Amino acid sequence: MLVTGSAGGIGKAMVRAFAEEGARVIAADLQEDANRALAASLGDAVVPLELDVTSEERWMEVFAQADRDYGGIDVLVNNAGFFQPNIPFEDMPLKLWRLHFAINLDGTFLGCKHAIRHMKSRGGAIVNIGSGMSITANPTASAYCAAKAAVLMTTRTAAANAGRYGVRVNAVLPGAVPTGMLMGNLAEGQSEENLLENLRSHSPLGRLATPEDIAAATLFLADPANAAVTGIYLPVDGGNMPGA
Ligand SMILES: NC(=O)c1ccc[n+]([C@@H]2O[C@H](COP(=O)([O-])OP(=O)(O)OC[C@H]3O[C@@H](n4cnc5c(N)ncnc54)[C@H](O)[C@@H]3O)[C@@H](O)[C@H]2O)c1
Repeated sequence: MLVTGSAGGIGKAMVRAFAEEGARVIAADLQEDANRALAASLGDAVVPLELDVTSEERWMEVFAQADRDYGGIDVLVNNAGFFQPNIPFEDMPLKLWRLHFAINLDGTFLGCKHAIRHMKSRGGAIVNIGSGMSITANPTASAYCAAKAAVLMTTRTAAANAGRYGVRVNAVLPGAVPTGMLMGNLAEGQSEENLLENLRSHSPLGRLATPEDIAAATLFLADPANAAVTGIYLPVDGGNMPGA
C-alpha cells in the first residue's frame, strides 16, 4: 500500500497503523529526510519514497516501480495536503489559490487516475483525505475549502467509474487534528492550548480526533472486509457539532 504525505502528523500515524496490520507500506512525501527517519524507526515493512503528488510523471514512475519491485499496490491513501489559514476571501492571491488546488486536488486526482489504471486488473481501494472544510464554509480558508470540496466529488466520480473494476474509492474528512498543519491556525498571541480548547468545545465527546483516529478510519475504508462501501465520506471529528 502507498500513503502520500507520510512525513506529516496524520501520514505518520497511517504508516504506523498499516505497518502494524502487516502491510508493506510505501511512505511517499516531499520530505525525504523525515520520511527516511520514519521508515528507519519501523523496520523493513516501510519503504520511503520521494514523491511530489503534483507531478504526473512521478506518479507514473512510482506505479511502474511498485509493479516491478513490490508486486503492485492494492491500497492508495491520498493524504498529502497543504493549508494556509487566516486569509480573508478578498485577499486570497490567485497564486496561493492555485497552490491549494495543485496539492490538495490535482494531487488527489492524479493519484486516483493512476491507481485506477494500476488496479484495473486486480481490484483495490483508494482513500482520499478531505477535511471538515470539504463541507463547511470557512471565511478565511476559501482555497482550502474549495479544493477539499472538490476532493469529495473527485472521490465520488472516481468511485462511480472504478466500481466496475472492483476498485473502491472513499474519503475520510478529519476535523481539527493536532498536527503541524492545525497549529498553523494560531491567531496572533493565541496559545496552543487556547486554540485546542476552543476547538474541543464543539465536540459532544469533549475531544478532538487524533492522527490515530484518522488512521483507524482509513484502515476501515481500505479493508477488503468492507467490500460494499464505495463513494462515501466519513467525518472523523469528535462529532463536531457547532451549537450542539
Ligand atoms: N490536521 C488537521 O487538522 C486536518 C484537518 C482536516 C484535514 N486534514 C488533512 O489531512 C491530511 C494530512 O494533514 P496533516 O495534518 O498531517 O498535515 P501536515 O502538514 O503535518 O502533513 C502534510 C504532509 O503533506 C506533505 N506534502 C505537502 N505537499 C506535498 C506534495 N506536493 N507532494 C507530496 N507530499 C506533500 C508534507 O510534506 C507533509 O508531510 C491533509 O490532506 C490535510 O489537509 C488535516
